[in-house]
Order: sequence, then C-alpha cells, then structure tokens
Amino acid sequence: MTEIISVCPLEDLPPGERRIVEWEDLEIGVFNVDGEILAIEDRCSHDDGPLAEGTLDAAACTVECPRHGALFDLRSGKPLTLPAYVPVETFPVRIEDGTIKLEIA
Ligand code: FES
Repeated sequence: MTEIISVCPLEDLPPGERRIVEWEDLEIGVFNVDGEILAIEDRCSHDDGPLAEGTLDAAACTVECPRHGALFDLRSGKPLTLPAYVPVETFPVRIEDGTIKLEIA
C-alpha cells in the first residue's frame, strides 16, 4: 500500500537546500535541485553512508556520498561511480496545496 507523507511547505525548501525526513525505519533525503524536488534514500548502498549529507551538484543532479565518495544520480538513485554499484531507492514527489509530499510504496 502506498503511503503519502508530508515533508514541509515548498517555500521552506529553497533551491540548493535539503532536509532529511524519517518514516518508520527509513530516512529519506529531500532535495530542491534548481526547483525540482527529488527524494532519495539517505543510506548509501555501499556501506550505509549518510548519503543525503553529501555534496549536492545541482548542475549534474548528483549527490556525493560523504563516506567514500560514490556519486549518485538523484533522479534515478543509480550510482555513477564506485565504490557503490547498487542503486538506492528514490521516491515520487508531489506538491499539493504548496506542501511537498512523498509517496512511499
Ligand atoms: S558508504 Fe557511500 S561510498 Fe562508501
């Protein structure tokens, strides 16, 4: 069953910003990438690094794992560089009544 969780008002997450939300045992990083809201699992597939705390490259739409430096595509969750080679989960985002919401299946 799909759950919808509210993150925050869209205006509270300006471009370049991020926030981390928790839902049950998941931690999810929600990013504003030049106006596009993207959500990715906050757990690197390589060694559980805190992925959403890494460096955001808005132009490339990537985040760099702060632990060992793997780059992940924020749209697909796919790793673009080693040492990670397994994708992380991404979550559909919708904006309703000015609020950012995530769909969690
Ligand atoms: S934990 Fe992310 S690259 Fe190793």
